[in-house]
Amino acid sequence: MSCVSTTSQGHPQVSRIPSDLDIHRMPAHVAIIMDGNGRWAQARGLPRMMGHRAGVEALKTTLRLCNDWGIKALTAYAFSTENWSRPGDEVSFLMTLFERVLQQELDSLEKEQVQIRFLGDLEALPKRLQNLIEEATKRTALNKGIHFNVCTNYGGRRELVLAAKKLAERSASGELDPALIDENIFSAELLTADEVDPDLLIRTSGENRISNFLLWQLAYAEIHVTEVLWPDFNSVELKKALIDYQSRSRRFGGLDPISPSEQINS
Ligand code: IPE
Ligand code: IPE
Ligand code: MG
Repeated sequence: MSCVSTTSQGHPQVSRIPSDLDIHRMPAHVAIIMDGNGRWAQARGLPRMMGHRAGVEALKTTLRLCNDWGIKALTAYAFSTENWSRPGDEVSFLMTLFERVLQQELDSLEKEQVQIRFLGDLEALPKRLQNLIEEATKRTALNKGIHFNVCTNYGGRRELVLAAKKLAERSASGELDPALIDENIFSAELLTADEVDPDLLIRTSGENRISNFLLWQLAYAEIHVTEVLWPDFNSVELKKALIDYQSRSRRFGGLDPISPSEQINS
């Protein structure tokens, strides 16, 4: 790994970006569906919960790498609106795990200039977790480093319905002319209102689906699916995902940019 000096997001740390990555083509926003914790544990003859615990370590590593490599936002899917359908002991283990990890990590997040936010229907979470989320959000709100969005009790469809409801209410009260509703006004009602859309979506464990994650925001994300199970995700895997991303031609419905000589011949 070579050391390329850069100050990311104006914060004082020097980033170390691997030399095989193009510093000028880094994604601004990476979203991750952290999948495969249960299978990772089962493959080792361990209870699923151990997979979730190991998954936390992978997330901590990934967050620090993204921050160091100058990525401006990381959005991680931690618990979906559908995950409540899992056995009660797994759900309560996850809630306790979120609480414990947040408590343990908050000082470091603050020091490392991470701005943490939780996206989802937070009111359905245990009260102690809600309080901790509020504290963490407040304590890191002015941090200048990476935006770390943790999707907790998050569902893309629910987010869209809530946005539609909010716009309907604003229209009914006369505050908003429905004729003016456009994509910008709509996306300003989403939980990700302050973020650019993800450039890169990573999904681990080989599943080729988005499982109700960021349905609106992923419209033009590049998708990288890896067979690696989430607890095994590390700097090598992140680098592979970024190299894959940098190899893509992002056309957004247009054409590849062509060189001036090709233009003359065409
Ligand atoms: C992802 O791992 C974590 C959560 C959804 C909370 P899984 O628990 O879905 O692991 P698999 O897919 O069963 O292996
Ligand atoms: C997606 O994983 C949700 C999270 C990673 C939090 P799931 O394991 O819940 O997704 P499906 O059931 O395989 O689609
Ligand atoms: Mg899964």
